[in-house]
Amino acid sequence: MSEKILAPSLLAYDNCRISEGIKIIENFPAKWIHIDVMDGMFVPGIAFGQIAVADMRKLTNLFLDVHLMVQNPECLIQSFADAGADMLTFHCESSANVEKIIGSVKSFGLPVGIAINPETPVSAIEKYLRKVDVALVMSVHPGKCGQEFLPSAVEKIGQLEAVREKFNLGFKISVDGGINRETMRIASSAGADIFVSGKAFFENPEQFRSMAYPDGDT
Ligand code: DX5
Ligand code: ZN
Repeated sequence: MSEKILAPSLLAYDNCRISEGIKIIENFPAKWIHIDVMDGMFVPGIAFGQIAVADMRKLTNLFLDVHLMVQNPECLIQSFADAGADMLTFHCESSANVEKIIGSVKSFGLPVGIAINPETPVSAIEKYLRKVDVALVMSVHPGKCGQEFLPSAVEKIGQLEAVREKFNLGFKISVDGGINRETMRIASSAGADIFVSGKAFFENPEQFRSMAYPDGDT
């Protein structure tokens, strides 16, 4: 079985005590931190700029999984790469220059993810799946934590898994929003590899232990 990655989302933790949130993630231990960047345009809220990411980089060696929920991410790739992001995921809905953005992220030596909103079908990103490292399925409407998991995400994960299998592609499938122990199990069975969890993780990290470490190695 391929490795299942839990990526706790810092957005769900008290923004005045970010270093404490990072410690909780490290102590779990998770290997990834999911950082939601929001610009007030692609989504209504604003969160985590390049300075915050650079400061997090100084605090931790965890893999910084940066999720750009921003309009026209092309002009931000270099600055988030410089800030120390380990991966950049952007939304296919956010720009007309999808190919260019994929190339730009890769030019900084980083893996690249492409995300789809709940309204966007898998067919919208199919032609890019050979070129990306991660396909991220939003299982809530982007922009805030603590929402209910949308079951329609499960079908999309299954469709991505089918494409991956059919063409023998190497991308990972990530699912973001409303992930708790139960929805992680469902998404995992459908084929997801990476699970972004905010509210449920910080409320009760232990619920994820047996899913994140099925062999009991931690
Ligand atoms: C939502 C963000 C998510 C969010 C997940 O727009 O992209 O990463 O923080 O939080 P929960 O798990 O609380 O839905
Ligand atoms: Zn996210």
